[in-house]
Amino acid sequence: MSAVEQSGAYAAAFAESVENPERFWLKAAEAIDWVSAPTKALDDSAAPMYRWYPDATLNTCFNALDRHVAAGRGEQAALIYDSAMIGTTRTYSYADLLDEVSRFAGVLAARGITAGDRVVIYMPMIPEAAIAMLACARIGAVHSVVFGGFAAAELAARIDDAEPTALITASGGLEPGRTIEYLPMVARALGLTDNAPATVIVKDREQIPGAAADHGWLDWDTEIANAEPADCVPVAATDPLYILYTSGTTGKPKGVVRDNGGHAVALAWSMRNLYDIGAGQTMWTASDVGWVVGHSYIVYAPLLVGATTIVYEGKPVGTPDAGAFWRVVEQHRVRALFTAPTAIRAIRKEDPDAAELAKYDVSSLVTLFAAGERLDPDTYEWATAKLGMPVIDHWWQTETGWAICANLRGLEPMPIKAGSPTVSVPGYRVQIVDGEGTEVEPGTEGNIVIGLPLPPGTLAGLWRDEERYVKSYLSTFAGYYLTGDSGYIDADGYVFVLGRSDDVINVAGHRLSTGAMEAVVAQHAAVAECAVVGIKDDLKGQRPSGYVVLKAGADIDREVLRKDLVAMVRDQIGAVATFRDVTVVQALPKTRSGKILRKTMRQIADHEDYTVPSTIEDPAVLDALARLLGPGQ
Ligand code: COA
Ligand code: AMP
Repeated sequence: MSAVEQSGAYAAAFAESVENPERFWLKAAEAIDWVSAPTKALDDSAAPMYRWYPDATLNTCFNALDRHVAAGRGEQAALIYDSAMIGTTRTYSYADLLDEVSRFAGVLAARGITAGDRVVIYMPMIPEAAIAMLACARIGAVHSVVFGGFAAAELAARIDDAEPTALITASGGLEPGRTIEYLPMVARALGLTDNAPATVIVKDREQIPGAAADHGWLDWDTEIANAEPADCVPVAATDPLYILYTSGTTGKPKGVVRDNGGHAVALAWSMRNLYDIGAGQTMWTASDVGWVVGHSYIVYAPLLVGATTIVYEGKPVGTPDAGAFWRVVEQHRVRALFTAPTAIRAIRKEDPDAAELAKYDVSSLVTLFAAGERLDPDTYEWATAKLGMPVIDHWWQTETGWAICANLRGLEPMPIKAGSPTVSVPGYRVQIVDGEGTEVEPGTEGNIVIGLPLPPGTLAGLWRDEERYVKSYLSTFAGYYLTGDSGYIDADGYVFVLGRSDDVINVAGHRLSTGAMEAVVAQHAAVAECAVVGIKDDLKGQRPSGYVVLKAGADIDREVLRKDLVAMVRDQIGAVATFRDVTVVQALPKTRSGKILRKTMRQIADHEDYTVPSTIEDPAVLDALARLLGPGQ
């Protein structure tokens, strides 16, 4: 047994969570107001498909809003919209937010949307995005938010899969120096799908051209002005709250399904025990509602515990400068800030001596949390030195919905080790196994797996695709959930997450599929074969890098080809893919069974040591690549 497992509040909580999960999670469930309280925590009757709180009913929106107003928090700030893009701040009290959400729920109900219906939300970082999500939760509809940086084809793929009855959007989003008009993209997406929803509602933003009427759609403001507020609809704890699509190794995104009950319990538990945030305190998560971090810690978790959340429309730098985050912390008295390491790197690059930080009073800030990618030791050291407070890395995924490994600041703060997200959060039995599924010794790198069942709040499955869920996550090592990450656990029980072991990459905290980019690149008339790998990037952690083999006789200028491919990826996946590098090669290194050696290609491009796999088809191809990309190139 390691040091961290032996003593203290963490050790006791972890032990109880794995030895007596019924007791642990029924106790945690007391933080939620149930319509019908659970008498049982785990239903394992259909293992490996597990369900939490099988006999309970609740409404997530009631827990996020109504109960706080009833308890006298109506006048407290629930949501602060802070737009660095248009220089606006607007505060919604709990009473205001409840009013807006109930009325928008009424709009949806009046259009015939009922419990179980899917609603796609394609919105920028404006309060209406959170209002739409909570309104869905209120009537039991299942929302599926699509990140605004995705292009029409990606939106269409999600509509195809979710088969929504409604789509909620806005006239557009604001990026530094340009506006993103959503309505032409929505129109294009609806043209690409056979499952176009009957109802489209548009929040008009005066900064962006385009209006609902141009397309015969409904206008948010008009609808809400005439709406009758709708009440909360009780749903089963096991009913879906949302579907969130995330990148897998293929081009087809995976629809991660989150339930209502387990989600509410896990998030409320995490606010107290991990983030140390309670009612009346302010948490700011500088992410986007389109990502899981935004779902959990911009929208649901802060509201579930009666805290104040901030919807920030802006960037860490350039809106207007590298002091943007510190300005928000000062202005709204933020206690916990949660961001991606790439944002800290961006601030450091612009303001290495933290001169901007010195201009603001950030004394309200107690902890800086980072996730979305590994917090590299260099960035960790810089942030800790400049802020003089704990900087906490924590590791999780869209699938889990909340942290797998963390330093639990509310439960028992632990010593920080740079480069590690600390220890397994109670409920998660994290282990490292080799290729055969055998647990390895401390300090040995391998596949990071989690013993089943996963705790409440984690994915209930993939939307209407149990087979893919089992194949992708549960079948590689029986009894374990495969995270897709590799790493090791040290002798103290600290977990070190080193990177993905599949073809998923992480660009500026955004999870992207190289397979999806390859599918686009392969469409080019001059391309015979291609591989996209994620290579190191000082600012964004990784960036996609494309390697293409031209068709015999293809005669195309390299720069023309690069521009074509960049434009195609931007058009079909979105600007967020940041696909910019294209290298023409004579051949791609492959195994004898034809599998492209992407990991070896990445190692060569990153100038790392690599071993030539014994299964290689033609070592000369790898040699040629090493000459082209190796050190000194
Ligand atoms: N809608 C439309 N376009 C978007 C977008 C959105 N919501 N978000 C990003 N984009 C566009 C950007 O405008 C940019 O377009 P460009 O190629 O025309 O310049 C492109 O996608 C790439 O964006 P990004 O990767 O964000 O790079 P950047 O250079 O604009 O900014 C950072 C760099 C580090 C400041 C930025 O990536 C950042 O703030 N990262 C933090 C990410 C984060 O919070 N992730 C959440 C996970 S927890
Ligand atoms: P997403 O599903 O978009 O949240 O991305 C999840 C993936 O991002 C994980 O599987 C990891 O590869 C990576 N990731 C997220 N947070 C961390 C972290 N704190 N340390 C290392 N990798 C992380």
